[in-house]
Amino acid sequence: MRVGVLTGGGDCPGLNAVIRAVVRKGVQEYGHEFVGFRDGWRGPLEGRSIRLDIRAVRGILPRGGTILGSSRTNPLKEEDGIRRIKDTLARQEIGALITIGGEDTLGVAARLSDEYEVPCVGVPKTIDNDLSATDYTFGFDTAVGIATEAIDRLHTTAESHMRVLVVEVMGRHAGWIALHSGLAGGANVILIPEQRFDIEQVCAWVTSRFRASYAPIVVVAEGAMPRDGDVVLKDGSLDSFGHVRLSGVGEWLAKEIERRTGKEARTTVLGHVQRGGTPSAFDRWLATRFGLHAIDAVHEGDFGTMVALRGTDIVRVPIAEATARLKTVDPQLYAEVGVFFG
Ligand code: F6P
Repeated sequence: MRVGVLTGGGDCPGLNAVIRAVVRKGVQEYGHEFVGFRDGWRGPLEGRSIRLDIRAVRGILPRGGTILGSSRTNPLKEEDGIRRIKDTLARQEIGALITIGGEDTLGVAARLSDEYEVPCVGVPKTIDNDLSATDYTFGFDTAVGIATEAIDRLHTTAESHMRVLVVEVMGRHAGWIALHSGLAGGANVILIPEQRFDIEQVCAWVTSRFRASYAPIVVVAEGAMPRDGDVVLKDGSLDSFGHVRLSGVGEWLAKEIERRTGKEARTTVLGHVQRGGTPSAFDRWLATRFGLHAIDAVHEGDFGTMVALRGTDIVRVPIAEATARLKTVDPQLYAEVGVFFG
């Protein structure tokens, strides 16, 4: 069988490990041929692809990003998108499509499978770890490691100057990276999108930290919002998802903390550093196992399914189960971590 592979949405460490595992097992054990579509759904829309053979995937396991390129193109929003995709698959005699992506990319795969008889198997990825139906997505562990190392480094410079250091991490809708890296890095305050924060309370925690002769580290997810002030964070422009862009909750926090406590504050925005570079060992392990199980699902004709991690097992679930709702931080878990605040 000829199998198509694509990577869609924001890139994340481990994508190449999935591609490698799919191709290695698919060729060696099942004798399949592979076509890599370029730049997410844009590839099958425009008929742009490359040949994926064993040689093409050699040496890519530790490489960040994706050798196929990625985009946030959504064929359901393109004129004639579904027909164009079906035409490409028919022309290239593709019998199955492995779609590696987050909520948007997999949402398309679910609809194509369920409503338009396009044989898709999904693989969940995102540094945000906010996909339902899987305990973890690959990319998350790497992002948390990078953020934790940054927090460790910021502790020593914060202490040297007795300043507040605000660290803004990724996570528009879910605070997983903030929560895990904040806890691992010994932050004094962790702010997440799931729960609006009270700036007075944040300042009280900061002040009590100084009283104990420590320099406070505040970790904030990019989508976190003050209880009564989101207006100040909106600059009016739209991001690549069509959402109103939130600019600089980290910068805003540092200014407010300085103004209200009289203490000097600085902000570090980690941004795309969290997504770049080589995957952690855990992410290579998870991505590889996802790839091996995804090609098994293709081989068995189990379409409309997504591979997922449950405990230490890889299972198959309907793709739609992963995209129906975002997996956000449970308030109880957040409350548990709150014991370290202040
Ligand atoms: O979904 C992954 C992610 O890195 C989010 O954490 C972040 O908000 C977003 O993508 C950034 O998107 P872009 O790379 O398009 O700016």
